[in-house]
Amino acid sequence: MGLRPAIAAVVAGALLVSLAAADEIGNPQRGLDYAQANCADCHGVLPEDYVSPVLEAPSFQAVAETKGVTRLALTAFLQTPHADMPNLVVTGEDADIVIAYILSLKGATAAGVR
Ligand code: HEC
Repeated sequence: MGLRPAIAAVVAGALLVSLAAADEIGNPQRGLDYAQANCADCHGVLPEDYVSPVLEAPSFQAVAETKGVTRLALTAFLQTPHADMPNLVVTGEDADIVIAYILSLKGATAAGVR
């Protein structure tokens, strides 16, 4: 076997692994629990809470429906302190689960579920 097929196989394998891993970053259910405890004072967390307790804070459903909101964008946002809250930075596993929850809301209203 030549070098090229070998490289192609390795690349394909790595791609499969990363696709599988992407599905598994963060548990949305745990993210919901985390959000209820840490974010719900300001943000509408459940899909039906489309208007947040703090009006300037978009509900998580609204965030999920915003174009360009991806895991990467949310990760970057949460690593940056919130406007008036220098202490609110979410990283590591907390970020993984809360982002998994927010992303799980994508399409939730359109599909009529949740
Ligand atoms: C004390 C109120 C408060 C708390 C608590 C809070 N947020 Fe926010 N959040 C805001 C406000 C206000 C904004 C809008 C202004 C801004 O972007 O900084 C915002 C913006 C955001 C945005 C960006 C939305 C967008 O599209 O611009 C995300 C994502 C977010 N918050 C996630 C979270 C998460 C996750 C938590 C819990 C770990 C959390 N917030 C806790 C008040 C809060």
